[in-house]
Amino acid sequence: MGSPVLLIACDSLRAVSAPFEPGERVLLLDGRGRRFLIRLQTGATFHFHGGALEHDAILGSDEGVVLHTHTGARLAAYRPTMADVVLKMPRGAQVIYPKDLGAILVFADIAPGSRVLEAGTGSAALTIALARATGPTGRVASWEAREDFHATARANVEAFFGAVPAWVTLRQGDVREVMGSAERFDRAVLDLPEPWGVLAEVRDALEPGGIVCTYLPTTNQVQQSVLAMERGGFAEVQTLEVLVRSWHVTVQSVRPDHRMVAHTGFLTLGRKGLAAGDRGESDPANG
Ligand SMILES: C[S@@+](CC[C@H](N)C(=O)[O-])C[C@H]1O[C@@H](n2cnc3c(N)ncnc32)[C@H](O)[C@@H]1O
Repeated sequence: MGSPVLLIACDSLRAVSAPFEPGERVLLLDGRGRRFLIRLQTGATFHFHGGALEHDAILGSDEGVVLHTHTGARLAAYRPTMADVVLKMPRGAQVIYPKDLGAILVFADIAPGSRVLEAGTGSAALTIALARATGPTGRVASWEAREDFHATARANVEAFFGAVPAWVTLRQGDVREVMGSAERFDRAVLDLPEPWGVLAEVRDALEPGGIVCTYLPTTNQVQQSVLAMERGGFAEVQTLEVLVRSWHVTVQSVRPDHRMVAHTGFLTLGRKGLAAGDRGESDPANG
């Protein structure tokens, strides 16, 4: 039997289909599509512009239940998805949006069992996505330089999984500290402003063929990152961005929504190739 921490965290990896219980989070959707994330507590009351609703009315109900406040406003209750939580959780640093989280998991090929290095942890939106993807057979080691962001990240991970999962390590410090350790990783995801400054240390910690993925908001940062990867022993370097446009579909009309998140960040990916030094050969360029 595993440790209690492992059991709690494993529980949050699978979809739950059971009546709502005290202590869990619930997403309330009003008639106009507004979303409220609350934690259920016996005897507590949720207040919003549409009135008040007793938590006890939700407790014991199945997902999808529709309830009404004392003023008659309609609220539907569901368990929140990871995307719902990421967009609502307390932030220190800017989080990576769900559309980009999905792309990072696929393009950086994060799978059950992957050993993943991450920096910086920020608010831990990506950490949570990585931990779900690697599962207990993998490992996520995440560095955050700032003490206050490290604390926020820990609280967000604990709130999501119930406790920091046994396979996740949250470290306060500079990711370049990895250089001194014997730890090896299959993947590295860098969401920090100057990834080129840590690339040598991260490359050293990656297994051959390992994938590095940087996430950057501006094109000049992307260019610097690409050039640093190419100079620094990474091959197959590619850059992409993800544009997601939601649609308004009704009986009367079918059209794109008026608003979209037009820009977040660019993903740049590269694979660790074997440099001459790694093979114990002399570099032909240097004779
Ligand atoms: C944009 S935030 C990361 C947000 C995170 N991906 C999320 O989804 O919540 C960038 C973070 O990198 C941290 N950082 C910058 N340089 C770092 C370094 N060398 N080592 C560790 N963390 C670093 C910053 O303090 C900041 O919190």
